[in-house]
Amino acid sequence: MTTLGIGLIGTGFIGKAHALAWRQARAVMGDLPPVRLELLCDVPEERARAMADQFGFARATADWRALVADPAVDVVSIATPNALHREIAAAALAAGRHVWCEKPMGLTLADAEAMTAAAEAAPGRMTMLGYNYVRNPAFRHAQRLLAEGRIGRPVHFRGWVDEDYQADPDLPWTWRARLAEAGLGALGDLGCHLVSLAVGLMGPIESLVAETQVIHATRPVPGGPGRAPVENEDVATALLRFASGARGSVSTSRSAWGRKNRLDFEVHGTKGQIAFAQERMNELQLYLAEGPAAEQGFRTILSGPAHPPFGQFVPAPGHQLGFLDLKTIEAAEFLRAIATGRPTDTDFRAGLHIERVIHAIAEAAGTDRRVTIRR
Ligand SMILES: NC(=O)c1ccc[n+]([C@@H]2O[C@H](COP(=O)([O-])OP(=O)(O)OC[C@H]3O[C@@H](n4cnc5c(N)ncnc54)[C@H](O)[C@@H]3O)[C@@H](O)[C@H]2O)c1
Repeated sequence: MTTLGIGLIGTGFIGKAHALAWRQARAVMGDLPPVRLELLCDVPEERARAMADQFGFARATADWRALVADPAVDVVSIATPNALHREIAAAALAAGRHVWCEKPMGLTLADAEAMTAAAEAAPGRMTMLGYNYVRNPAFRHAQRLLAEGRIGRPVHFRGWVDEDYQADPDLPWTWRARLAEAGLGALGDLGCHLVSLAVGLMGPIESLVAETQVIHATRPVPGGPGRAPVENEDVATALLRFASGARGSVSTSRSAWGRKNRLDFEVHGTKGQIAFAQERMNELQLYLAEGPAAEQGFRTILSGPAHPPFGQFVPAPGHQLGFLDLKTIEAAEFLRAIATGRPTDTDFRAGLHIERVIHAIAEAAGTDRRVTIRR
């Protein structure tokens, strides 16, 4: 197998998760091309050098353009703030690199469209977006249960994704509140993850109506004086029509005190229900409307080797995977896609549908009308 050179840009929250995933994927799964941790980029240069040393990358740079142009780099991991995704992805694809980019795709729908066009103009180059929650063995099992018709016809989806990192009204203003730097608010940070789950379970979304809310209209300027406006949504809620005819709702908030990573969903079927809560990510709840009424009830399915690739990490059930393991599965899926030429279910084309949905939610709320999602 050919060795693939990895270039990683950004070493914050999710950049570290990429670095660990690249280090682990082949050790966990076995049947993957070997990788070389070739070049790491961050700013300033001292940070890049320190993080390259910590993560085990051979070289460091503060210039992402030098990274994407480096002939020893085959795959580029983009783990920078959203405003850089489009430019880096387009340059990396044009230079012939495979691209693993964090969500959301960019600041605007135009960014996502341009990135998809760049991917499709680079034949043989694979792309993948960082929708880690679809990699959960419990989620993959939910998809299998639906495909096998175990809960009958899926007729309704409900989902929530809430955190509280913008709940405090006294939190200083940051770039996250600016459309030009962050793009969407809760929808881009959190809502897109929930949409990735909704679409992964129920198929594409056809149209929607929505409401958004800014809870804290201004925030204190760091170092003062005065307050600056919050330009993107703290909360968004949408009623969905799926192409299958199913209906549903999704809701997201970044200002929900007490919620740390509440990413929960229910799929209601004609013969049962599946429910999941990310804060208990090794469990799936399944209700089947069968057997004696006196014995019916939700059962808890605890993730284990019967739910691949759990057994690649640990051979016994109940021993629990964590958030970072999802990123390792993601890296493995990408290496497999590169090796086989078969895309993952979250390549740029698939991600464009998710972007259309989150931007449609903002548009529907802004115009107070139903928005049809272009396919
Ligand atoms: N998939 C997930 O669950 C998940 C979780 C968190 C963040 N994210 C996404 O990951 C991306 C990064 O978010 P984060 O929370 O890791 O941010 P962060 O602020 O923790 O890290 C960003 C990194 O990019 C670096 N950077 C900034 N400008 C740069 C430049 N010009 N060149 C090179 N490096 C540069 C910063 O120094 C920092 O190391 C965002 O798009 C975010 O939406 C995804």
